[in-house]
Amino acid sequence: MKPPDQLSEPPDGRPYHDQPQWRNDFPIDWPQDELVARRDFTKFLVLTSFAFAVGQLWIVFENFFRKRKGQLPVMRIARADAIPVGGSLVFEYPAAHDICLVVRTGPQHYVAFNQKCTHLSCAVVPDVARGRFHCPCHNGSFELETGVPVAGPPRRPLERILLEIRNGDLYAIGREVRA
Ligand code: FES
Repeated sequence: MKPPDQLSEPPDGRPYHDQPQWRNDFPIDWPQDELVARRDFTKFLVLTSFAFAVGQLWIVFENFFRKRKGQLPVMRIARADAIPVGGSLVFEYPAAHDICLVVRTGPQHYVAFNQKCTHLSCAVVPDVARGRFHCPCHNGSFELETGVPVAGPPRRPLERILLEIRNGDLYAIGREVRA
């Protein structure tokens, strides 16, 4: 005759004392189940709140130090006339793996943005004929000239890369992070 609190057989048929710890923590029978004590629940809440607060502080510190790092590097992208009007070029700025796009929108006019969509970070592609950057993941659209979102789920503008032409060469000289 089984004890009244052990009505069910464990699925592997081994006795209760040979069962792994997790099976004791999540028992099969109700009588073996213990309610989580209020103190344990409070402990859990305090620990998760603490972890959340540490995460927030980390973000604040990171932003603070990023701002203090000062100016971003000046980096040559290409010869300005190497990009045809209506054409675009991918480059990395300010660091490797920060993929950006420069688009020549007119004979003397270039715009550049980080290629990462501000919704869920897919790569946007220029659609110069429609004056947009298009994000294929969820049909998001941004204005080509300003990077402002105009359709789909994105709510924040693309990160603009500041450009300068020196002696016919196109340079990235910084970036403008907008809210
Ligand atoms: S990732 Fe670009 S619209 Fe969703």
